Amino acid sequence: MTGHLIVNDEDATRVLTLRRPEKKNAITHGMYRAMSEAIDTAQNNPEIRCLIITGGSGVFTAGNDLEDFVATATAEAGPFGASDAIRFLYSLAQNTKPIVAAVDGIAVGIGTTLLFHCDYVLASTTATFSTPFIHLGLVPEGGSSLLMPRTMGYHRAFATLVMGRVVTAEEAREAGFVNVVVAPGHTEAEARKVAREICALPAEAVAISRKLLRTPPEDLTRRIDQEGHLFGERMKSKEAISAFKAFFKRKKA
Ligand code: COA
Repeated sequence: MTGHLIVNDEDATRVLTLRRPEKKNAITHGMYRAMSEAIDTAQNNPEIRCLIITGGSGVFTAGNDLEDFVATATAEAGPFGASDAIRFLYSLAQNTKPIVAAVDGIAVGIGTTLLFHCDYVLASTTATFSTPFIHLGLVPEGGSSLLMPRTMGYHRAFATLVMGRVVTAEEAREAGFVNVVVAPGHTEAEARKVAREICALPAEAVAISRKLLRTPPEDLTRRIDQEGHLFGERMKSKEAISAFKAFFKRKKA
């Protein structure tokens, strides 16, 4: 487990807290591995009936760590396809337990796309959602090219996924991927209430119903593979490498 992901079992709820505030909770390889493990080990554990993913107060996550992207893009081998991020996305796609997300602040890239694998999303009034893949020379990931149009409709998904438009908390609620908008600093407490409500339901009936409602895991993993292949190719493109470099140069300017 990395120190940048805190995993706590609170009664029947497993809480995954991203804790790398100095980097806006940008997700490293180690954090992906720790999140996968926390999700995978919950599957056959009857004591765990629900999961919460949170970034704590003020930020959810700035998405994939861009330094890791640069390292992968300039490496000879080991594209995105075989990476820890893909394993994490598989863990989400195959997960059978309800996941509640608490978003207090920015949710960039995978910070937004992972929410489409969650079952209940709380956002603070200051939360924003964005998927700047195309601005980075990349393509959508995480099954988002399948799940986002299904949830919010094609045209809104195009504006978000392709044009990179930032979505506010209220717009996300209207678009159907946020359940409720709360005051800043309150998302975690509210998420715990929702988790307790879910944990009090008959677990088997929840699992069967959830499976009926959700996109089948095999459809998701097929799309994750397709996207991952294209994403891996795009990572090494001139467009992507110059976008990654521009981000870090911006800091020095
Ligand atoms: N990967 C690595 N480091 C990141 C990061 C990321 N995705 N996002 C932010 N950081 C780091 C910054 O480099 C900075 O580090 P430093 O203080 O050592 O220089 C620190 O986190 C704070 O970020 P900063 O940009 O100063 O904060 P901000 O409030 O001005 O802006 C963001 C926040 C999220 C809007 C901005 O950091 C950003 O656009 N990040 C990139 C998001 C992104 O493209 N993610 C990939 C999606 S596929």
